[in-house]
Amino acid sequence: MTSTTQTVSGERLEELQQMAGEHLFMHAAQTNDWRGSLKIFEKGEGVWVEDIEGNRLIDAMGGLWYKAAGYGRREIADAMYQQLMGIESPPAGSSTVSQIELAAKVAELYPDHGARVFFVSGGSEAVETAVKMAKKHQQLNGKAGAFKVISRRYSYHGGTAMAVSLGRSPAADPAGPEMPGAIHVTNWNSYRMPFDGDPVDVAVKCANEFETVIVHNGPSTVAAMIAEPVSAAAGIHIPPAEYWQRLREIADKYGVVLIADEVITGFGRTGEYFAPSNWGVQPDITAVAKALTSGYAPLGAAIATKRIADSFVGGAEQTFRHLITFGGHPVAAAAALANLKIFEKEDLVGNSRRMGDYLFDQLQRLYDHQIVGDVRGGLGLLAAVELVQDRQNKTAFPASAGLAKRLPKMLYDRKIVSFRAGDVISLCPPLSITADEIDFIVNALDDALTQLESDLGVS
Ligand SMILES: Cc1ncc(COP(=O)(O)O)c(C=O)c1O
Repeated sequence: MTSTTQTVSGERLEELQQMAGEHLFMHAAQTNDWRGSLKIFEKGEGVWVEDIEGNRLIDAMGGLWYKAAGYGRREIADAMYQQLMGIESPPAGSSTVSQIELAAKVAELYPDHGARVFFVSGGSEAVETAVKMAKKHQQLNGKAGAFKVISRRYSYHGGTAMAVSLGRSPAADPAGPEMPGAIHVTNWNSYRMPFDGDPVDVAVKCANEFETVIVHNGPSTVAAMIAEPVSAAAGIHIPPAEYWQRLREIADKYGVVLIADEVITGFGRTGEYFAPSNWGVQPDITAVAKALTSGYAPLGAAIATKRIADSFVGGAEQTFRHLITFGGHPVAAAAALANLKIFEKEDLVGNSRRMGDYLFDQLQRLYDHQIVGDVRGGLGLLAAVELVQDRQNKTAFPASAGLAKRLPKMLYDRKIVSFRAGDVISLCPPLSITADEIDFIVNALDDALTQLESDLGVS
């Protein structure tokens, strides 16, 4: 990143802070927590970003889990510009070359190459679309009364009303009653396992809760089951292979559509283009967004296997009546195509695997800190460090320790952006990251934890 940025200070900075404080609604944030001290960025390159005051930092969270190809990719900007100079969006009922080529590219990368891709604008819409598609698929295939959807507690599937019903994450406000038919089961947690026993047995037992609920409700009433392959919201707990394999068996046994919410894990994050490939599993529908464009434009998709998609090819009755005006916007599609070209040219998925292993390895030394209870990772570039008051008993820090406020600031002072650091420090850097840059992150974490222990009086 060349340092041509005009830094902003004094009156202009104050003016921006004042305008933001009065008029900007920050997502899922309390205004009083950031008013007057909002971080503002206008520049980035690779894993590095620069705020308008001239501070240069590594973005260890890859934006909000999406910056796969890194910042400042000129070729993505050029592709978007070219699309804009041709046609920015086509007349209703038609398409563009960028949309068609992207659908074909996604199907080529997806394990089921006969897949059909329904483009939307982001992750919540991808989940809404996947669930609606699953319900209508069931209606068209003899399960007219199937409307229930099983998901896991503490997961996150988006901010829209139905997605919030599925998620049950404290990160999203339901602001009212849940969607009828939303049923929740135990989530997988590798650190505080929900049952005693061998991890594989416990994971299978968690998966079996889906079966219990299907049988209890009657299989004819259940349309779909949905889960994130690795739930970032729940704290990045990687399940054993048997978990997703069991979900697949249960879905097949009862004719329930298996939806993978790969809004975070899709496109390389776990060292495969699609996470269930790590375990030899093919879901029926996959919801994706974020890394599809690496955040250069808003875009998401529900990817349907050929079996599901073929339900919607026939007469008027079979039509999937579902419309999102800007779903698959051609400029976003052009960005995604250019982004995926970078993936292939630079083997970003392979780098995710290699650097993910390196990151996980380096993070092990943080166990030298007594307050580190668990280090999770080893499946691509998604990792977490969980802090505890008492390692022996895995006791969490009380809210009064204020980790969620203290840690992001301590890390910022050490040139790391991670607004998601608290009890759990999540790491989701760009897939283009190098070993040196990983060292920079781990050293900063090490240093911040030393200071935190000292501040907390932990010897
Ligand atoms: C697993 C998962 N699903 C769905 C969503 C919703 O995506 P969006 O915020 O793009 O609507 C998110 C967002 O973080 C997510 O992590």
